[in-house]
Amino acid sequence: MPIPSQLLPFLLAAAVVAAEAHLILPAFAEHQGREEQEQQQAVVERPGCQDMCGNISIPFPFGMGKPRCFLPGFKVTCDTSSSNRPRLFLAYNISGPFQRTSALNHTSTKGGTGSGGNTNAVELMDISVADNEARVYIGVSSDCSTNGSRHFLAKFQDIVLGDDGPFLLSATHNVLIGVGSNVESMMVTSFGERGKETKAYMPSCLSNLMRRLQYATDGTCSGLGCCLAALPPNAPPLTNFGVGFMPRPNYLWKTNPCFYGMLAEKSRYNFSTHDLNGIEVLYPEGVPVVLDFAIRNLGWCPPEGQQQPPGYACVSSNSTCVNTTRGNDYVCKCLEHYHGNPYITDGCHGWKAMTVHAKQE
Ligand SMILES: *[C@@H]1O[C@H](CO)[C@@H](O)[C@H](O)[C@H]1NC(C)=O
Ligand SMILES: *[C@@H]1O[C@H](CO)[C@@H](O)[C@H](O)[C@H]1NC(C)=O
Ligand SMILES: *[C@@H]1O[C@H](CO)[C@@H](O)[C@H](O)[C@H]1NC(C)=O
Ligand SMILES: *[C@@H]1O[C@H](CO)[C@@H](O)[C@H](O)[C@H]1NC(C)=O
Ligand SMILES: *[C@@H]1O[C@H](CO)[C@@H](O)[C@H](O)[C@H]1NC(C)=O
Ligand SMILES: *[C@@H]1O[C@H](CO)[C@@H](O)[C@H](O)[C@H]1NC(C)=O
Ligand SMILES: *[C@@H]1O[C@H](CO)[C@@H](O)[C@H](O)[C@H]1NC(C)=O
Repeated sequence: MPIPSQLLPFLLAAAVVAAEAHLILPAFAEHQGREEQEQQQAVVERPGCQDMCGNISIPFPFGMGKPRCFLPGFKVTCDTSSSNRPRLFLAYNISGPFQRTSALNHTSTKGGTGSGGNTNAVELMDISVADNEARVYIGVSSDCSTNGSRHFLAKFQDIVLGDDGPFLLSATHNVLIGVGSNVESMMVTSFGERGKETKAYMPSCLSNLMRRLQYATDGTCSGLGCCLAALPPNAPPLTNFGVGFMPRPNYLWKTNPCFYGMLAEKSRYNFSTHDLNGIEVLYPEGVPVVLDFAIRNLGWCPPEGQQQPPGYACVSSNSTCVNTTRGNDYVCKCLEHYHGNPYITDGCHGWKAMTVHAKQE
């Protein structure tokens, strides 16, 4: 799909990379961890490495501190400075991962002035080595009107995971969401950075309430106050993406000045009409998004009977190696009937942890 020309300045202005500033967000939303965390009996980290950050388990290949405590790209940091709770982050790297927030102030559809971008580390919510997934918080983009004409103060949120990093946006767990009375939110995956002309791939969705807020219904996201678009499963690897908007007038700017757009884990987002009044307040850290991870640029799974490559990550007995479709990377899994962490010695056990939980998905 070609990029509509009037959209370009809006998106490009949003892509301004600027000074790094580590934004500290207030943290008061209650933390919901993955159920695996309660399976405390299993050892998840290499000996001598910190395996918890507050309530969040840090299974190898994730880790912090000494280089032997994590594999390349899996370094994390635990921020204990907040009075609320310790917070776990993917270690910030200039080539990713990081998230960037750009403020835009424009008075027409022809684009406007960008305030550059604040970049900050991506916060982790939980990690599952069994599924090779990590859940992170990602901020919400917004598009706010200060009067009936097109005068927007917008916040554009994008994520750079890094082309060489181990993380990808999960195309199966996440969806694009728009919240607003007349919003068309769209996912953008190319910002023309470093002169690279990668194809923009833009699922979008439209919500139009026809000026009637009463059409919006709690729990229903089907184009009235809330809209949702799936990501095609055959999408290219999604390492650099954000959510923007097609310019649309906000007829209800007096009562509901802002439109919102975000990527979110589908099963965790439930539309509420309150979201039309200000979704950022409800999700101060951002909304949960699932990332897939894999061991990247360290070879691939050895063909059967052949020697393991140096640095081979599937070190547990009773674990197996699975090549991913992206190429040049692989994941480790415990064999059937085994549970635990395939990335550490003797990490896969033939017993289940004390508490047995139903799988969420
Ligand atoms: C861990 O979780 C429990 C229960 O949810 C909570 O009461 C406790 O404050 C949490 N501790 C930290 C350090 O976050
Ligand atoms: C947006 O621009 C207007 C006009 O230049 C200015 O008065 C206003 O303070 C700006 N707002 C922000 C948030 O930068
Ligand atoms: C909307 O606000 C802008 C800037 O504050 C102003 O220039 C414009 O005249 C306003 N439009 C209307 C219709 O009030
Ligand atoms: C940042 O990422 C690049 C590319 O993945 C990597 O080569 C480099 O070592 C990383 N830097 C740090 C400080 O981790
Ligand atoms: C979503 O929220 C509505 C009320 O706002 C509730 O009735 C419904 O059960 C919720 N759905 C899910 C899947 O949580
Ligand atoms: C993984 O991919 C490599 C390179 O394509 C291939 O040589 C190898 O046989 C594959 N291993 C498995 C177990 O499929
Ligand atoms: C792996 O499985 C074999 C049997 O297939 C068993 O003898 C061995 O103890 C297992 N290893 C671990 C670490 O559980």
